[in-house]
Amino acid sequence: MASLSCTPYFPALLMLLMMIMMGSTRADYNVLSYGAKPDGTTDSTKAFLKAWVAACSSTRAATIYVPKGRFLLKAVEFRGPCKSRIIVRVDGTLVAPSNYRELGNSGYWILFIKVNNIMYLGGSLDARGAGFWACRKSGNNCPPGARSLTFNWANNVVVSGVTSINSQVTHLVINSCNNAVVRNVKLYAPDQSPNTDGIHVQGSTGVTISGSTLQTGDDCISIGPDTRNLFMTNIKCGPGHGISIGSLGRETNEGGVQNITLTNSVFSGSDNGVRIKSWARPTTSFVRNVVFQNLIVRNVKNPIIIDQNYCPNNQGCPNQSSGVKISGVTYRNIRGTSATQNAVIFKCSTSNPCSGIRLHDINLTYMKKPASASCSHVSGTSTGVRVPESCL
Ligand SMILES: *[C@@H]1O[C@H](CO)[C@@H](O)[C@H](O)[C@H]1NC(C)=O
Ligand SMILES: *[C@@H]1O[C@H](CO)[C@@H](O)[C@H](O)[C@H]1NC(C)=O
Ligand SMILES: *[C@@H]1O[C@H](CO)[C@@H](O)[C@H](O)[C@H]1NC(C)=O
Repeated sequence: MASLSCTPYFPALLMLLMMIMMGSTRADYNVLSYGAKPDGTTDSTKAFLKAWVAACSSTRAATIYVPKGRFLLKAVEFRGPCKSRIIVRVDGTLVAPSNYRELGNSGYWILFIKVNNIMYLGGSLDARGAGFWACRKSGNNCPPGARSLTFNWANNVVVSGVTSINSQVTHLVINSCNNAVVRNVKLYAPDQSPNTDGIHVQGSTGVTISGSTLQTGDDCISIGPDTRNLFMTNIKCGPGHGISIGSLGRETNEGGVQNITLTNSVFSGSDNGVRIKSWARPTTSFVRNVVFQNLIVRNVKNPIIIDQNYCPNNQGCPNQSSGVKISGVTYRNIRGTSATQNAVIFKCSTSNPCSGIRLHDINLTYMKKPASASCSHVSGTSTGVRVPESCL
């Protein structure tokens, strides 16, 4: 070895050997190599797409790397299937065009579609939604608004360590996916920004959401039709509209929601804590096997609510009776302060009353006194600590 190291060729040879060895386990695609500019003003959409095409056609596991800096991206679709698994590793910030109309009418800003085995790690997204919200508030011919980060028809998805601010509408959407993990994300939009949900899950099975901070103008997490086996833990929600199953029953023919768990989470200053909502019209939809447990609420308007006559702003109300059958919902160890007198509201369907509602160890106070509860068309049991007095 000693004699070999004297030859000037050896270090170069070793480098080459190491590069080949590393290359055999993964392939790296830095967006800068494809012309992306970290200056916040040059359109980097085409460069990102070129990096995607290269990574997606790699037969080895591929990493797309986005270094520090601000990268301007228009609406962009990263389409699979890819030949191998993909990691998108971001140290920088993706920023939307300053004119909100440039995200167009597609409804998406950054969309991953039909991509399996994908990890999206780190970095920030800034959709600069303020102009869009102002348009919405003035009611002037606005586009539908773009979700910031969406996974459609994707299996085995991990989203970790991502921060998103000021989405036009929903920050993060998991739609028609199997096996998705969302962890350690931070989603921020002002309290009064319209329809800026945190995470929307729909048509998906086996989704886990953990360790995330959601401060938004709409639901922290909304759970749409056809969702099953969803596990949520260590969520900090608020301000926002709380964690909602629904709204369901928008369609007559709709898949139900089942096996949903929320545990070890905190709501602060949100409009709702845990909510189930449905429109008052006939439907095939249902909600069953839900557990809400170990929750703390601080100054929350409706800590526990089922509303089967959901009709925001009283516009276009169907005025019928909800066909959504709600059964097997457990509320266990939920305590804290309500911002209104009525902390527990079960307003169920006249034609399909809620059944199997279980309350165990509930302690919700309003102005330092026990809050109250109201029940209609609901049956179930109440055990352990009962503050407010159960109406079941
Ligand atoms: C319910 O969902 C959990 C994930 O939260 C999963 O581990 C479990 O297998 C599911 N149960 C059924 C019966 O599908
Ligand atoms: C529902 O009832 C409200 C209030 O009575 C009424 O203004 C509205 O037109 C009704 N909607 C439909 C679809 O009938
Ligand atoms: C309910 O919570 C209040 C406020 O923390 C507390 O003072 C009270 O003792 C609790 N009641 C029960 C029955 O645990």
